[in-house]
Amino acid sequence: MSIVSEIRKRKTFAIISHPDAGKTTLTEKLLLFGGAIQTAGAVKSNKIKKTATSDFMEIEKQRGISVATSVMTFEYGGKLVNILDTPGHKDFAEDTYRTLTAVDSVILVIDCVKGVEEQTEKLMSVCRMRKTPVIVFINKVDRDGRDPFELLDELEEKLNIKVRPLSWPINSGRDFKGVYKIYDKSLNLFEANKTKISKDIVSIDDLNDPLLDELLGKDALKLREDIELIEGVYDPFDVQRYLDGDLAPVFFGSALNTFGVKELLEKFLEIAPYPLPRNSSTREVKPEEAKFSGFVFKIHANLDPKHRDRIAFLRVCSGQFERNKFFHHVRLNKDFKFSNPVTFMADDKNIVDEAYAGDVVGLYDTGNFKIGDTLTQGEDMIFKGIPSFSPEIFKELINLDPMKSKQLEKGIEQLTDEGVAQLFRQEPGNRKFIGTVGELQFEVIQYRLEHEYNAKCRFEARAFHKACWMTGDKEAIDEFSRYKQKNIVKDKDDNWVFLAETSWILNTAKEQNPKITFHDTSEFKVI
Ligand code: G4P
Repeated sequence: MSIVSEIRKRKTFAIISHPDAGKTTLTEKLLLFGGAIQTAGAVKSNKIKKTATSDFMEIEKQRGISVATSVMTFEYGGKLVNILDTPGHKDFAEDTYRTLTAVDSVILVIDCVKGVEEQTEKLMSVCRMRKTPVIVFINKVDRDGRDPFELLDELEEKLNIKVRPLSWPINSGRDFKGVYKIYDKSLNLFEANKTKISKDIVSIDDLNDPLLDELLGKDALKLREDIELIEGVYDPFDVQRYLDGDLAPVFFGSALNTFGVKELLEKFLEIAPYPLPRNSSTREVKPEEAKFSGFVFKIHANLDPKHRDRIAFLRVCSGQFERNKFFHHVRLNKDFKFSNPVTFMADDKNIVDEAYAGDVVGLYDTGNFKIGDTLTQGEDMIFKGIPSFSPEIFKELINLDPMKSKQLEKGIEQLTDEGVAQLFRQEPGNRKFIGTVGELQFEVIQYRLEHEYNAKCRFEARAFHKACWMTGDKEAIDEFSRYKQKNIVKDKDDNWVFLAETSWILNTAKEQNPKITFHDTSEFKVI
């Protein structure tokens, strides 16, 4: 098969949700359809259970699971689907944001009882920033959920995206009867069943078909009214607007009951984009190009502390990746070949000989990779768009053993290369501030510094509200930095960052310094 037809076969995406909405269940059901697993329960949830937030070994175990399910691949209807897993726990949100840079589209799962939740909003703001096409799956319709129209309004309001239902639930909870597929005028009747795939699909000619009354009784009238309202209120579904990230088609179903999942999968395969071009420091790179290129979006440390090797996850952006072939590591200006590149599936690891644009391969690494690194077939360019977002919690790293400063430096440098947390340095004094989105990372850092680098540290909370990257007039930045010395730090790429204590202070700084631009993410970087 030619490279182009290999690439056109691929659909690489992530399922995102607020914890507990049903991401793991839906993933598993998609894998069942794809024949990648045979039984329900084969994919373990990678979420860190709420009860385990202070149990480090539990976190380690969970980390193991999340390596195994990092990328799940299956074939369906002649297409090759790559699902990139994202951590469910909110403290690992930064990992999820980075994974979103490696996909071409997402499926967003919403719990029909809870609607849009905190984590949903954050994840969607990242998708909007990148104009990622989104399909929404409103899950758990077998429960007494909220009114579907109300849910759609909430999606539009809180997620700032237009929606268009493509399927519609007939009641919910105990009265749930099934889903009407608006796009092909057929009815999928519900039968609670956790393993089998619903086959009970009835096609009707139009909504006035008397068969509808026969099957649904008095609910037929309600369905007719709902559909009339939908057709009146929402624009017809436009695939291009979906691909542009402006419009999200919405499906209703129950992942647990494997209901509405097949429709979702088949529509996804029909409309979701195949691997998209990506911007680099010098040009746009098209997936069909003959020469290989890719970037590292995730690094996972080995679970065994005796082996310092790690797995770097590489998204192939163009051409063909080959095992045992030399590729160029642009940042280090060095060539590397990989004898054991792997893909993962449930509990299995497989060595891959070749991979194409859209695929993700795991590369064993002994410390040569950093998140955002680019590999090419010789070309000198770096992929853009692996942003850092402002952390939410800031703490100063205090060395508890001055004899082990070197180990501490090396450890914190490597852990932050892996993306465990963000490191900001302050001159004078070489003070180090660690920024994360959750408390768990501090535990992870402390534990790993001690066990892998033999360095001891503690953290002191610092009451910063937000990190903002600064660009603009050099003199203005210098003057502002002198005046705000205590709040000025540099990130690992030597960018100036302002750590503001409150949003009021940040707004005042913005007003008083028109020559400086304060950025919410490090995305502005020209790399
Ligand atoms: P997550 O990965 O998004 O965090 O969610 P996960 O799939 O683990 O699902 C969270 C809970 O919601 C699970 O129950 C799961 O069984 C349930 N669930 C998922 N889809 C549906 C659905 O369509 N209908 C109903 N009623 N429930 C659903 P749990 O009790 O937390 O876990 P478990 O003991 O069932 O594994």
